[in-house]
Amino acid sequence: MTTSTLRATTTAVPDASPEDPGTPAVLDGVSTTYAVARDRSAVLDALIDGHAAEDPARFRMLTGDRPTGPLHIGHYLASLRNRVRLQDKGVETFVVIADYQVITDRDSVGEMGTNVHGLVLDYLAAGIDPARTTIFTHSAVPALNQLMLPFLSLVTDAELRRNPTVKDELALSDGRPLSGLLLTYPVHQAADILFCHSRIVPVGRDQLPHLELTRDIARRFNTRYAAGHGVFPEPEALLSEVPLLLGTDGTKMSKSKGNVINLRDTADETAARVRAARTDSERRITFDPDARPAVANLLTIAGLFLGEAPEAVAEQVGNGGAQALKRVVTEAVNDSLEGHRARRADLAADPAYVTSVLHEGNARANEVAERTLATVRAVMGMSY
Ligand code: TRP
Repeated sequence: MTTSTLRATTTAVPDASPEDPGTPAVLDGVSTTYAVARDRSAVLDALIDGHAAEDPARFRMLTGDRPTGPLHIGHYLASLRNRVRLQDKGVETFVVIADYQVITDRDSVGEMGTNVHGLVLDYLAAGIDPARTTIFTHSAVPALNQLMLPFLSLVTDAELRRNPTVKDELALSDGRPLSGLLLTYPVHQAADILFCHSRIVPVGRDQLPHLELTRDIARRFNTRYAAGHGVFPEPEALLSEVPLLLGTDGTKMSKSKGNVINLRDTADETAARVRAARTDSERRITFDPDARPAVANLLTIAGLFLGEAPEAVAEQVGNGGAQALKRVVTEAVNDSLEGHRARRADLAADPAYVTSVLHEGNARANEVAERTLATVRAVMGMSY
Protein backbone atom coordinates (compact mmCIF):
# COMPACT_ATOMS: atom_id res chain seq x y z
CA MET A 1 0.00 0.00 0.00
CA THR A 2 1.30 3.49 -0.75
CA THR A 3 0.72 6.49 1.44
CA SER A 4 -1.65 8.03 -1.05
CA THR A 5 -4.13 5.19 -0.63
CA LEU A 6 -4.31 5.51 3.13
CA ARG A 7 -7.55 6.61 4.62
CA ALA A 8 -7.52 10.06 6.19
CA THR A 9 -8.67 9.29 9.69
CA THR A 10 -6.95 11.77 11.94
CA THR A 11 -10.09 12.96 13.65
CA ALA A 12 -11.60 10.40 15.98
CA VAL A 13 -15.34 10.05 15.83
CA PRO A 14 -16.38 12.46 13.08
CA ASP A 15 -18.10 15.66 14.05
CA ALA A 16 -21.79 15.66 14.71
CA SER A 17 -23.99 15.95 11.64
CA PRO A 18 -26.69 18.65 11.72
CA GLU A 19 -29.28 16.50 13.48
CA ASP A 20 -26.81 15.44 16.18
CA PRO A 21 -26.74 17.08 19.60
CA GLY A 22 -23.62 18.89 18.44
CA THR A 23 -20.06 19.04 19.65
CA PRO A 24 -19.14 22.36 21.19
CA ALA A 25 -16.00 23.55 19.41
CA VAL A 26 -14.15 23.85 22.68
CA LEU A 27 -14.52 20.11 23.35
CA ASP A 28 -13.76 18.97 19.86
CA GLY A 29 -11.21 16.18 20.00
CA VAL A 30 -9.76 17.14 23.38
CA SER A 31 -9.94 15.15 26.59
CA THR A 32 -7.25 16.46 28.87
CA THR A 33 -9.26 16.78 32.03
CA TYR A 34 -11.80 14.60 33.74
CA ALA A 35 -14.59 17.15 33.42
CA VAL A 36 -13.97 17.58 29.72
CA ALA A 37 -13.84 13.81 29.25
CA ARG A 38 -17.16 13.49 31.08
CA ASP A 39 -18.84 16.03 28.85
CA ARG A 40 -17.37 14.50 25.72
CA SER A 41 -18.51 11.03 26.84
CA ALA A 42 -22.10 12.24 27.01
CA VAL A 43 -21.79 13.54 23.45
CA LEU A 44 -20.26 10.25 22.30
CA ASP A 45 -23.06 8.29 23.94
CA ALA A 46 -25.62 10.33 22.04
CA LEU A 47 -23.70 9.86 18.78
CA ILE A 48 -23.56 6.11 19.35
CA ASP A 49 -27.30 6.02 19.98
CA GLY A 50 -27.94 7.86 16.76
CA HIS A 51 -25.42 6.26 14.42
CA ALA A 52 -23.77 3.05 15.62
CA ALA A 53 -26.25 0.78 13.91
CA GLU A 54 -25.76 2.31 10.48
CA ASP A 55 -21.98 2.85 10.71
CA PRO A 56 -20.43 0.42 13.22
CA ALA A 57 -16.78 0.97 12.21
CA ARG A 58 -17.07 4.68 12.96
CA PHE A 59 -17.43 3.79 16.62
CA ARG A 60 -15.12 0.79 16.74
CA MET A 61 -14.36 0.10 20.38
CA LEU A 62 -11.58 -1.69 22.20
CA THR A 63 -11.58 -2.64 25.86
CA GLY A 64 -9.76 -5.26 27.87
CA ASP A 65 -8.93 -6.96 31.12
CA ARG A 66 -5.86 -8.42 32.74
CA PRO A 67 -6.31 -12.14 33.34
CA THR A 68 -5.15 -12.01 36.95
CA GLY A 69 -8.14 -13.80 38.50
CA PRO A 70 -11.91 -14.13 38.34
CA LEU A 71 -14.04 -11.12 37.40
CA HIS A 72 -16.11 -9.67 40.23
CA ILE A 73 -19.28 -7.60 40.51
CA GLY A 74 -17.26 -4.39 40.15
CA HIS A 75 -16.13 -5.48 36.68
CA TYR A 76 -19.68 -6.48 35.83
CA LEU A 77 -21.31 -3.24 36.91
CA ALA A 78 -18.63 -0.85 35.68
CA SER A 79 -17.62 -2.44 32.41
CA LEU A 80 -19.05 -5.80 31.30
CA ARG A 81 -22.66 -4.62 31.22
CA ASN A 82 -21.63 -1.53 29.33
CA ARG A 83 -19.68 -3.51 26.72
CA VAL A 84 -22.70 -5.64 26.04
CA ARG A 85 -24.90 -2.55 25.82
CA LEU A 86 -22.59 -0.95 23.25
CA GLN A 87 -22.17 -4.17 21.28
CA ASP A 88 -25.94 -4.50 21.12
CA LYS A 89 -26.24 -0.95 19.82
CA GLY A 90 -24.11 -2.02 16.86
CA VAL A 91 -20.68 -0.80 17.98
CA GLU A 92 -17.92 -2.95 16.46
CA THR A 93 -16.16 -4.35 19.50
CA PHE A 94 -12.71 -5.78 20.29
CA VAL A 95 -11.88 -7.19 23.72
CA VAL A 96 -8.24 -7.85 24.58
CA ILE A 97 -7.38 -10.33 27.28
CA ALA A 98 -4.18 -8.57 28.24
CA ASP A 99 -2.00 -11.52 29.19
CA TYR A 100 1.29 -9.68 28.70
CA GLN A 101 0.02 -7.00 31.09
CA VAL A 102 -0.17 -9.54 33.89
CA ILE A 103 3.62 -9.67 34.20
CA THR A 104 4.08 -5.90 34.53
CA ASP A 105 4.13 -6.06 38.33
CA ARG A 106 4.67 -9.65 39.51
CA ASP A 107 7.20 -12.41 39.38
CA SER A 108 5.13 -15.26 38.02
CA VAL A 109 2.41 -15.65 35.45
CA GLY A 110 0.06 -17.41 37.86
CA GLU A 111 -2.80 -19.55 36.59
CA MET A 112 -2.80 -17.86 33.22
CA GLY A 113 -4.69 -20.52 31.25
CA THR A 114 -7.40 -20.88 33.88
CA ASN A 115 -7.79 -17.14 34.25
CA VAL A 116 -8.06 -16.56 30.50
CA HIS A 117 -10.62 -19.33 30.20
CA GLY A 118 -12.59 -17.82 33.12
CA LEU A 119 -12.65 -14.38 31.50
CA VAL A 120 -14.06 -15.81 28.28
CA LEU A 121 -16.75 -17.64 30.28
CA ASP A 122 -17.82 -14.41 31.97
CA TYR A 123 -17.79 -12.46 28.70
CA LEU A 124 -20.00 -15.00 26.99
CA ALA A 125 -22.32 -15.42 29.99
CA ALA A 126 -22.73 -11.63 30.18
CA GLY A 127 -23.87 -11.51 26.56
CA ILE A 128 -20.75 -10.71 24.58
CA ASP A 129 -21.44 -12.33 21.24
CA PRO A 130 -18.30 -13.82 19.65
CA ALA A 131 -19.85 -13.52 16.20
CA ARG A 132 -19.90 -9.74 16.55
CA THR A 133 -17.15 -9.11 19.09
CA THR A 134 -13.51 -10.11 18.62
CA ILE A 135 -12.09 -11.61 21.81
CA PHE A 136 -8.31 -12.15 21.67
CA THR A 137 -5.16 -12.40 23.77
CA HIS A 138 -2.03 -10.26 23.39
CA SER A 139 0.31 -13.19 23.17
CA ALA A 140 -1.47 -14.70 20.16
CA VAL A 141 -1.17 -11.58 18.00
CA PRO A 142 2.50 -10.96 17.09
CA ALA A 143 1.83 -8.07 14.70
CA LEU A 144 0.10 -6.12 17.47
CA ASN A 145 3.12 -6.54 19.70
CA GLN A 146 5.48 -5.42 16.96
CA LEU A 147 3.74 -2.04 16.82
CA MET A 148 5.29 -1.43 20.23
CA LEU A 149 8.71 -0.84 18.58
CA PRO A 150 7.89 2.18 16.43
CA PHE A 151 5.55 3.44 19.15
CA LEU A 152 8.31 3.35 21.78
CA SER A 153 10.35 5.65 19.57
CA LEU A 154 7.59 8.25 19.85
CA VAL A 155 7.64 8.69 23.63
CA THR A 156 10.30 9.90 26.05
CA ASP A 157 11.33 8.25 29.26
CA ALA A 158 10.23 11.41 31.14
CA GLU A 159 6.71 11.05 29.74
CA LEU A 160 6.58 7.44 30.82
CA ARG A 161 7.96 8.13 34.28
CA ARG A 162 5.40 10.82 35.08
CA ASN A 163 2.38 8.70 34.10
CA PRO A 164 0.23 8.81 37.28
CA THR A 165 -1.28 5.37 36.75
CA VAL A 166 2.14 3.74 36.38
CA LYS A 167 3.27 5.55 39.54
CA ASP A 168 0.23 4.31 41.46
CA GLU A 169 0.71 0.77 40.27
CA LEU A 170 4.37 0.88 41.25
CA ALA A 171 3.46 2.17 44.71
CA LEU A 172 1.06 -0.75 45.14
CA SER A 173 3.60 -3.37 44.13
CA ASP A 174 5.28 -3.82 47.54
CA GLY A 175 8.58 -2.09 46.93
CA ARG A 176 9.33 -3.92 43.70
CA PRO A 177 11.67 -2.09 41.37
CA LEU A 178 10.02 -0.58 38.31
CA SER A 179 10.23 -3.14 35.50
CA GLY A 180 10.75 -2.06 31.91
CA LEU A 181 7.39 -3.56 31.07
CA LEU A 182 5.51 -1.67 33.78
CA LEU A 183 7.15 1.57 32.63
CA THR A 184 6.23 0.95 29.00
CA TYR A 185 2.93 -0.87 29.29
CA PRO A 186 0.95 2.29 28.44
CA VAL A 187 2.70 2.14 25.04
CA HIS A 188 1.72 -1.51 24.70
CA GLN A 189 -1.82 -0.49 25.55
CA ALA A 190 -1.63 2.11 22.79
CA ALA A 191 -0.81 -0.75 20.42
CA ASP A 192 -3.93 -2.60 21.68
CA ILE A 193 -6.05 0.41 20.92
CA LEU A 194 -4.47 1.49 17.65
CA PHE A 195 -3.86 -1.85 15.90
CA CYS A 196 -7.59 -2.09 15.17
CA HIS A 197 -8.09 1.65 14.60
CA SER A 198 -10.49 1.85 17.47
CA ARG A 199 -12.21 5.18 18.03
CA ILE A 200 -13.76 4.57 21.41
CA VAL A 201 -12.19 3.26 24.59
CA PRO A 202 -14.48 2.78 27.58
CA VAL A 203 -12.33 3.58 30.61
CA GLY A 204 -12.41 4.43 34.26
CA ARG A 205 -10.90 7.67 35.43
CA ASP A 206 -7.58 5.99 36.28
CA GLN A 207 -7.01 5.02 32.65
CA LEU A 208 -7.38 8.54 31.21
CA PRO A 209 -3.61 9.23 31.19
CA HIS A 210 -3.11 6.11 29.06
CA LEU A 211 -5.62 7.34 26.56
CA GLU A 212 -3.91 10.71 26.34
CA LEU A 213 -0.63 8.95 25.60
CA THR A 214 -2.33 6.82 22.96
CA ARG A 215 -3.61 9.98 21.29
CA ASP A 216 -0.11 11.47 21.39
CA ILE A 217 1.35 8.34 19.84
CA ALA A 218 -1.25 8.29 17.06
CA ARG A 219 -0.65 11.96 16.28
CA ARG A 220 3.13 11.69 16.40
CA PHE A 221 3.15 8.60 14.22
CA ASN A 222 1.05 10.33 11.59
CA THR A 223 3.24 13.43 11.64
CA ARG A 224 6.69 11.89 11.87
CA TYR A 225 6.40 8.67 9.96
CA ALA A 226 3.38 9.03 7.69
CA ALA A 227 3.86 12.54 6.23
CA GLY A 228 0.71 13.71 7.96
CA HIS A 229 -1.47 10.92 6.58
CA GLY A 230 -3.99 9.65 9.06
CA VAL A 231 -2.71 6.13 9.53
CA PHE A 232 -4.01 6.10 13.09
CA PRO A 233 -7.14 7.85 14.34
CA GLU A 234 -7.03 9.51 17.77
CA PRO A 235 -9.32 7.47 19.97
CA GLU A 236 -11.58 8.96 22.60
CA ALA A 237 -12.44 7.94 26.15
CA LEU A 238 -15.93 6.87 27.01
CA LEU A 239 -15.97 7.34 30.76
CA SER A 240 -17.83 4.90 32.96
CA GLU A 241 -20.79 6.40 34.82
CA VAL A 242 -20.38 3.90 37.61
CA PRO A 243 -18.73 5.19 40.78
CA LEU A 244 -15.74 3.34 42.20
CA LEU A 245 -17.01 0.34 44.14
CA LEU A 246 -15.36 -0.87 47.32
CA GLY A 247 -15.09 -4.36 48.72
CA THR A 248 -17.56 -5.67 51.30
CA ASP A 249 -15.31 -4.35 54.10
CA GLY A 250 -15.48 -0.80 52.75
CA THR A 251 -11.87 -0.80 51.48
CA LYS A 252 -10.45 -1.24 47.97
CA MET A 253 -11.58 -4.51 46.38
CA SER A 254 -8.83 -7.07 46.52
CA LYS A 255 -8.80 -10.79 46.10
CA SER A 256 -6.29 -11.23 48.91
CA LYS A 257 -8.50 -9.32 51.36
CA GLY A 258 -11.41 -11.66 50.70
CA ASN A 259 -13.75 -8.70 50.23
CA VAL A 260 -14.95 -9.36 46.68
CA ILE A 261 -18.03 -11.03 45.26
CA ASN A 262 -17.04 -12.88 42.12
CA LEU A 263 -19.44 -13.39 39.24
CA ARG A 264 -18.87 -17.13 39.38
CA ASP A 265 -19.60 -17.38 43.15
CA THR A 266 -22.70 -19.32 44.15
CA ALA A 267 -25.74 -17.66 45.71
CA ASP A 268 -24.72 -19.11 49.09
CA GLU A 269 -21.14 -17.84 48.81
CA THR A 270 -22.55 -14.43 47.94
CA ALA A 271 -24.89 -14.48 50.94
CA ALA A 272 -22.02 -15.43 53.25
CA ARG A 273 -19.80 -12.67 51.86
CA VAL A 274 -22.51 -10.05 52.32
CA ARG A 275 -23.34 -11.34 55.80
CA ALA A 276 -19.71 -10.74 56.77
CA ALA A 277 -19.72 -7.24 55.24
CA ARG A 278 -18.77 -4.28 57.40
CA THR A 279 -21.61 -1.97 58.39
CA ASP A 280 -22.08 0.20 61.47
CA SER A 281 -24.26 0.22 64.54
CA GLU A 282 -26.66 2.93 63.44
CA ARG A 283 -30.11 1.42 63.07
CA ARG A 284 -31.44 3.78 60.44
CA ILE A 285 -29.87 3.18 57.04
CA THR A 286 -28.90 6.35 55.17
CA PHE A 287 -26.77 7.01 52.12
CA ASP A 288 -23.82 9.03 53.39
CA PRO A 289 -20.62 8.11 51.52
CA ASP A 290 -18.41 10.38 53.66
CA ALA A 291 -19.59 9.41 57.13
CA ARG A 292 -20.72 5.83 56.38
CA PRO A 293 -18.61 4.59 53.43
CA ALA A 294 -19.18 0.85 53.97
CA VAL A 295 -22.97 1.22 54.21
CA ALA A 296 -23.00 3.62 51.26
CA ASN A 297 -21.03 1.10 49.22
CA LEU A 298 -23.56 -1.67 49.90
CA LEU A 299 -26.39 0.70 48.97
CA THR A 300 -24.57 1.60 45.75
CA ILE A 301 -24.10 -2.06 44.82
CA ALA A 302 -27.77 -2.86 45.48
CA GLY A 303 -28.86 0.27 43.62
CA LEU A 304 -26.78 -0.55 40.55
CA PHE A 305 -28.17 -4.06 40.34
CA LEU A 306 -31.75 -2.89 40.97
CA GLY A 307 -31.54 0.12 38.67
CA GLU A 308 -32.35 2.46 41.55
CA ALA A 309 -30.59 5.36 43.24
CA PRO A 310 -28.73 4.35 46.42
CA GLU A 311 -30.77 6.94 48.33
CA ALA A 312 -33.95 5.16 47.27
CA VAL A 313 -32.60 1.81 48.48
CA ALA A 314 -31.69 3.44 51.82
CA GLU A 315 -35.22 4.80 52.07
CA GLN A 316 -36.70 1.33 51.55
CA VAL A 317 -34.48 -0.26 54.20
CA GLY A 318 -35.11 2.61 56.57
CA ASN A 319 -35.07 1.42 60.18
CA GLY A 320 -34.45 -2.21 59.20
CA GLY A 321 -30.78 -1.80 60.09
CA ALA A 322 -27.78 -3.66 58.76
CA GLN A 323 -29.55 -7.00 58.63
CA ALA A 324 -32.31 -5.76 56.35
CA LEU A 325 -29.76 -3.93 54.22
CA LYS A 326 -27.76 -7.11 53.78
CA ARG A 327 -30.85 -9.03 52.80
CA VAL A 328 -31.62 -6.46 50.10
CA VAL A 329 -28.04 -6.54 48.81
CA THR A 330 -27.84 -10.34 48.72
CA GLU A 331 -31.14 -10.59 46.88
CA ALA A 332 -30.25 -7.86 44.42
CA VAL A 333 -26.93 -9.50 43.54
CA ASN A 334 -28.20 -13.06 43.42
CA ASP A 335 -31.37 -12.31 41.47
CA SER A 336 -29.51 -10.17 38.93
CA LEU A 337 -26.73 -12.71 38.44
CA GLU A 338 -28.87 -15.84 38.40
CA GLY A 339 -29.03 -15.99 34.61
CA HIS A 340 -25.37 -15.06 34.23
CA ARG A 341 -24.29 -17.80 36.62
CA ALA A 342 -26.48 -20.44 34.97
CA ARG A 343 -25.15 -19.57 31.51
CA ARG A 344 -21.60 -19.54 32.85
CA ALA A 345 -22.03 -23.03 34.31
CA ASP A 346 -23.43 -24.34 31.01
CA LEU A 347 -20.56 -22.86 29.05
CA ALA A 348 -18.00 -24.17 31.55
CA ALA A 349 -19.20 -27.66 30.73
CA ASP A 350 -17.96 -27.18 27.15
CA PRO A 351 -14.31 -26.08 27.34
CA ALA A 352 -13.74 -26.89 23.65
CA TYR A 353 -16.27 -24.22 22.71
CA VAL A 354 -14.48 -21.60 24.81
CA THR A 355 -11.20 -22.55 23.14
CA SER A 356 -12.79 -22.23 19.70
CA VAL A 357 -14.07 -18.74 20.56
CA LEU A 358 -10.54 -17.70 21.47
CA HIS A 359 -9.03 -19.28 18.36
CA GLU A 360 -11.49 -17.49 16.13
CA GLY A 361 -10.99 -14.18 17.91
CA ASN A 362 -7.23 -14.53 17.72
CA ALA A 363 -7.43 -15.32 14.01
CA ARG A 364 -9.54 -12.22 13.35
CA ALA A 365 -7.27 -10.02 15.48
CA ASN A 366 -4.23 -11.36 13.60
CA GLU A 367 -5.74 -10.45 10.25
CA VAL A 368 -6.44 -6.91 11.41
CA ALA A 369 -3.03 -6.53 13.08
CA GLU A 370 -1.15 -7.82 10.05
CA ARG A 371 -2.93 -5.35 7.79
CA THR A 372 -2.10 -2.49 10.14
CA LEU A 373 1.53 -3.55 10.51
CA ALA A 374 1.85 -3.80 6.71
CA THR A 375 0.65 -0.20 6.44
CA VAL A 376 3.03 0.90 9.17
CA ARG A 377 5.98 -0.78 7.49
CA ALA A 378 4.97 0.68 4.12
CA VAL A 379 4.79 4.26 5.34
CA MET A 380 8.05 3.81 7.20
CA GLY A 381 9.77 2.54 4.06
CA MET A 382 10.26 -0.86 5.60
CA SER A 383 8.46 -3.19 3.19
CA TYR A 384 11.20 -5.13 1.48
N1 TRP B 1 -5.18 -1.91 31.63
C1 TRP B 1 -6.50 -2.47 31.59
C2 TRP B 1 -6.84 -3.00 32.99
O1 TRP B 1 -5.96 -3.16 33.81
C3 TRP B 1 -6.64 -3.60 30.60
C4 TRP B 1 -6.31 -3.20 29.19
C5 TRP B 1 -5.31 -3.69 28.42
C6 TRP B 1 -6.97 -2.21 28.40
N2 TRP B 1 -5.29 -3.09 27.21
C7 TRP B 1 -6.27 -2.17 27.17
C8 TRP B 1 -8.04 -1.35 28.63
C9 TRP B 1 -6.65 -1.27 26.17
C10 TRP B 1 -8.43 -0.47 27.62
C11 TRP B 1 -7.72 -0.42 26.40
O2 TRP B 1 -7.99 -3.26 33.24
